[in-house]
Amino acid sequence: LKVINVVGARPNFMKMAPIIEAMNLHPDEIDHILLHTGQHYDEKMSESFFDDLGMPVPDINLGVGSGSHAEQTAAIMVEFEKVCRHEEPDLVIVVGDVNSTMACTITAKKMGISVAHVEAGLRSRDMAMPEEINRLCTDVLCDYLFTTDRIANENLRAEGVPQEKIFFVGNVMIDTLLKHRLLAEKMTLKDDWGLQTGKYATLTIHRPSNVDDPETLKGILDALQEISNEIPVIFPVHPRTRKMAEEYGLTDYFSRDLPVNGIWMTQPLGYLDFLHLNMHAAMVLTDSGGLQEETTVLRVPCITMRHNTERPITCEMGTNVIVGNRPEKILSAARNVLNGMVRPAMIPEKWDGNASQRIVDHLLAVFADNSFGC
Ligand code: UD1
Repeated sequence: LKVINVVGARPNFMKMAPIIEAMNLHPDEIDHILLHTGQHYDEKMSESFFDDLGMPVPDINLGVGSGSHAEQTAAIMVEFEKVCRHEEPDLVIVVGDVNSTMACTITAKKMGISVAHVEAGLRSRDMAMPEEINRLCTDVLCDYLFTTDRIANENLRAEGVPQEKIFFVGNVMIDTLLKHRLLAEKMTLKDDWGLQTGKYATLTIHRPSNVDDPETLKGILDALQEISNEIPVIFPVHPRTRKMAEEYGLTDYFSRDLPVNGIWMTQPLGYLDFLHLNMHAAMVLTDSGGLQEETTVLRVPCITMRHNTERPITCEMGTNVIVGNRPEKILSAARNVLNGMVRPAMIPEKWDGNASQRIVDHLLAVFADNSFGC
């Protein structure tokens, strides 16, 4: 079975790492190569994750970089088509919901190549999110849909996806978290900012809906500044957010002299550093997708500054609350956490560290039936 594993942006790397590891256990049956589209290219957004996760250097890097959605998607498709023509894989595996995920799916399917989507069936029902468009286009085309939870299974069935295409395997990102948890817990940060366990918050924001509009971004930062009067807020800044904060003249919000309270702005952090910070935080404030799941497993309160989530299982069972992006709502949720009003979390089914193994087992069974081999 010849496979091209595709990654492109930061949230893809921790999802693909355990799949590669599981494939490495079957060298006689699976011949796999790793392709990076180059959607993310800064050292701190890409390479440092490969180091932390022990991932191999990609065999192929398309080097597409940034651009408008159409430019980036088109550039990936043009380059990926050449690779597929040359490599002739039996299967392409895509993960998550970034532009690289959708672009490689469309390209491979039009060439008659089977595609598997890992993290299928998540839906925010918000078509203003580029990721929702990516998820819908990817799932409708893919041959094998690997899901993280029962709500995703229901979403796919409601869209008419035949049951035999849906494989409920669990969460590969949690495979990675569980594998690295102990190491991250014990590590000492290069710069620990004098933080005390449970006495600080971490923050990430990068969604266009939060950072591209100056009024919205300012409102969020006002709320965060108020929270930071009570506990320091550690803010590894995404390049997009840094660019917008500078453009709108909002960088005065960020203090540089911890351990006094304030919003402490830093470079994007590596996987292990950020996991270490999150597992010891009083709360995580975010608009990310993956962090909603990671905090549920870490049992750390998560305040999601969005109007919806494609991961409702984290609200139903986990530590996540959806608060939107109005300052008073963000503040009130943070105060609840500071006042100890925290719900106990349950871990969703099959978030047990074995999702990647299940994926590889399914693929081997399916492709053995189809009498493929390498
Ligand atoms: C992308 C994903 C998003 C994911 C996020 C995680 C899409 C549509 N969005 O958003 O779902 O949550 O990654 O980070 O695929 N930039 C750099 N260096 C980099 C990468 C980006 O400076 O290595 C800057 C560029 O100015 C670029 C901007 O960030 O234009 C946005 O990058 P892009 O890859 O388009 O989307 P993200 O906002 O990172």
